[in-house]
Amino acid sequence: AFVVTSSCIDVKDTACLDECPVDCIYTGIRKLYIHPGECIDCGACEAACPVDAIMNVRLVPAAEAEFIAAEERFFHTVLPGRTTPVGDPGGAGRIGPVGADTPFVAAFGR
Ligand code: F3S
Ligand code: F3S
Repeated sequence: AFVVTSSCIDVKDTACLDECPVDCIYTGIRKLYIHPGECIDCGACEAACPVDAIMNVRLVPAAEAEFIAAEERFFHTVLPGRTTPVGDPGGAGRIGPVGADTPFVAAFGR
């Protein structure tokens, strides 16, 4: 699986969106999030990011490890300002920008 780490926050270049063949990169307020269950591990998004925010989960440095959990929580917990989890939409284009972040990402200082 691949994960969007801290350097995406407040940058949101969005070049990654055009690369994903299954449209599993979803838009939050401060960063984008890869759906852990929908990603097919192709790696196409990783090279597209100009700030190297996208990493293979097996290669995420310890300082960025919390972002692995943030990706899961984005989809499967109720985010601040929402009443239901994002869940498993089966494509970001089906729901559009989510308009929320996980509490960890919302509070992340950079
Ligand atoms: Fe973020 Fe990089 Fe995509 S900055 S929006 S992960 S291209
Ligand atoms: Fe999508 Fe492949 Fe990245 S499935 S999220 S482009 S690893």
